[in-house]
Amino acid sequence: MKWLLTAALAVSSAAATDLIVPLYQYPLDNGAVWQPIYDALTSNQNLITKIIVNPDSGPGGPANGINDGWYKTGAQNLASHANAQLFGYVHTSIDGGLTRCSAPYETVVANITRWSDWVAAGVAIQGIFIDEAPASTANDCVAYMRNLTEFIRTDTSLRFPGRLVIYNPGGTGDLRPFYDLKPTLILALETCFVAASTDPNYDGCSGTYERYDHAGFGSSIDTVLLPSIGAANAPATAVVVHGFHGSNGDPANLVADANTLAGVIQAAVARNIGAVFFNTAWYQKFSDAPATIGAVASLLRAANAAA
Ligand SMILES: *[C@@H]1O[C@H](CO)[C@@H](O)[C@H](O)[C@H]1NC(C)=O
Ligand SMILES: *[C@@H]1O[C@H](CO)[C@@H](O)[C@H](O)[C@H]1NC(C)=O
Repeated sequence: MKWLLTAALAVSSAAATDLIVPLYQYPLDNGAVWQPIYDALTSNQNLITKIIVNPDSGPGGPANGINDGWYKTGAQNLASHANAQLFGYVHTSIDGGLTRCSAPYETVVANITRWSDWVAAGVAIQGIFIDEAPASTANDCVAYMRNLTEFIRTDTSLRFPGRLVIYNPGGTGDLRPFYDLKPTLILALETCFVAASTDPNYDGCSGTYERYDHAGFGSSIDTVLLPSIGAANAPATAVVVHGFHGSNGDPANLVADANTLAGVIQAAVARNIGAVFFNTAWYQKFSDAPATIGAVASLLRAANAAA
């Protein structure tokens, strides 16, 4: 029975666009603040939802993460849904992302091993999300990422049932050598929808950034993402868009409403993107309209079913 369920999920994963959720929100009140996520999982049971668990720029220490009762309860609740795939967060730099692959290899390995301890504590972490991943071959990064990926996939001391790996360079660049390492996904476009960022805690994008689909549905994927990564890599690619409110400016000037949300989601599904996330707020919460996690999950499920 268990095997049948796993096989069925694997098949739908190959064809569909999954939901990916960067979960950096603290699970207040014994995990109650994550209720919109539990509800989205329950209401969309054939939508694989990849959830990046990040208590503390990593697995946390003696006083937080799995050792915090609220965190443990919340994470166990998430993991109890068959369509949830939990990923443990690690990062590769010691200077806030400036120099990729600068964290000593052993410290990243140590954090991956601590994520494996979550499995022993009853939270089925299925894989690792590597943030501050490289988008260039500088700094011996290809060997660094190859070694980490091999470690996650093959080390017999690790307990991860899924052994999945996501890289997050956050944008495009020279990603082909990293696609060649065959990670589950590369998050190659993370940006905002809104044209002008009035509240950095809400929108998170500043300076020059790709205003998502400002030239029409699918335009960011067609003109920024695919020319860089190659269309064949779309199924191994994730797109994350925050600040879904206001409007995204010229020339299409799409307004962040339910129709636009359906349009951007359908365009990503039509282009075989591996996983997407749209959210109205930044990382803080998932319940602000129009792009609540419930609305996004149900539109994505519908777009997958229609594809
Ligand atoms: C390792 O995890 C700790 C605790 O969560 C975090 O503070 C640290 O930045 C992490 N280091 C790396 C390289 O992932
Ligand atoms: C990767 O692993 C090889 C073989 O164990 C080792 O020689 C090399 O130093 C490692 N490279 C990095 C960047 O970790």
